[in-house]
Amino acid sequence: MHETQKKQIQITLHEGQLNVFNNHSRFRIIQAGRRWGKSTLSCAIAISEMFQAHTVFFLTPTHDLNKTLFNEMLKWLPEQAVKAANKSELSIELINGGTAKWFSAESAGQMRGRKAHFLVIDEGSFISDLQDIYNSICLPLLIDYKGKVLAISTPNGHTFFDKLFLKGINKEPDYASFTFTSYENPLLDANEIETMRQNMPDRQFKIEILAQRIDSNDSNPFGEDNIVKNITPTLSTKPPVIFALDVAKVYDYSVLIGLDEDGTMCYFDRFRLNYELTVQRVKRIRSISEAKLIVDSTGVGNAVMEMIKKEVSNVEGFIFTGSSKPLIINKLILAIEQGKVKYTEQVANELYTYEMKIGINGNVTYNGAAGTHDDCVASLAMAYYHLIRVTHAANWKLYTI
Ligand SMILES: Nc1ncnc2c1ncn2[C@@H]1O[C@H](COP(=O)(O)OP(=O)(O)O)[C@@H](O)[C@H]1O
Ligand SMILES: [Mg+2]
Repeated sequence: MHETQKKQIQITLHEGQLNVFNNHSRFRIIQAGRRWGKSTLSCAIAISEMFQAHTVFFLTPTHDLNKTLFNEMLKWLPEQAVKAANKSELSIELINGGTAKWFSAESAGQMRGRKAHFLVIDEGSFISDLQDIYNSICLPLLIDYKGKVLAISTPNGHTFFDKLFLKGINKEPDYASFTFTSYENPLLDANEIETMRQNMPDRQFKIEILAQRIDSNDSNPFGEDNIVKNITPTLSTKPPVIFALDVAKVYDYSVLIGLDEDGTMCYFDRFRLNYELTVQRVKRIRSISEAKLIVDSTGVGNAVMEMIKKEVSNVEGFIFTGSSKPLIINKLILAIEQGKVKYTEQVANELYTYEMKIGINGNVTYNGAAGTHDDCVASLAMAYYHLIRVTHAANWKLYTI
């Protein structure tokens, strides 16, 4: 037979995916853990619509995600079925007239005045103005054909997407909602999830892997119960093994924390002084200990660190970046969960008002809530992170001497 013989499309869905595929409610809303197979399922359902010569639109938070989904779908589609695929416009047309086109939150306005049989909303919890887009653009788009919606996301607290999800939970007509954990993708190696679990704060694990709908934005990543159990009424009298200084920016304080070998605070100083006096104040630690001093050298901190280095020995800089900050805060969260660090009430008060926000790719940002200070948290996180490194290095020497 000739080369152009039609190929059958082969997507074998796993059990959870099949449940959604076989549900024909007009609005299907899914909250599922990372890598459960959300995007794969949305491609599979979209393709089945396109094979019925239907028009499918995708709405996602970012252009990047759209590019990924576009490429993913092209991989699944048999070449012979595709009439045109436009990479810059992110649109696909099949020979039977079925089409797919991708829009991001930013380009959603371009959907106005069009008609679609089917709308996929991928990672909808991460579209901040979803409510407006949904009501003023998406619903009108679906009127002519009484089009269907598949809205799918990792949970992200109490968003508009979560409101749509609750409609299904509350059995509103035409709505069906589903929840799946990452464990329910049988194609995913369980070890991969276990590794994620070990490296993730408990709260993040519950949201991103167990797909729990706890609010990721309102409450803090440490957990009040955990914070309380590590408060020490007085500073430890053991010698410091590490010091860390968070340098004051415009409105806040400089905080200098020392930790002993058990991870208990044994030195605390919080002050607001000009740079010259800051150096003199920091210099006091050398009357107690020669332990390493980590200095926040982000931005103006770098100049302060250079001044400190001239007067104080054994100083090392630490720069806060989009990746170094979550790294050290995650270590602190785990340490607080596991009772490996102890701090005073004053530091605990800042821990209570600290906030975690999870972004679309699982990227986490941490900050004190608006109007609160977080310099103690920053200093404690730097100190604890470097304490582990110092003690590990010491243990390593123990075995190699
Ligand atoms: N039914 C399936 N068949 C084959 N691979 C799948 C299937 N579902 C998911 N996968 C694979 O599992 C991984 C995660 O799927 P993806 O759809 O990207 O998950 P999510 O969007 O939930 O993060 C990907 O490597 C994907 O190719
Ligand atoms: Mg996805």
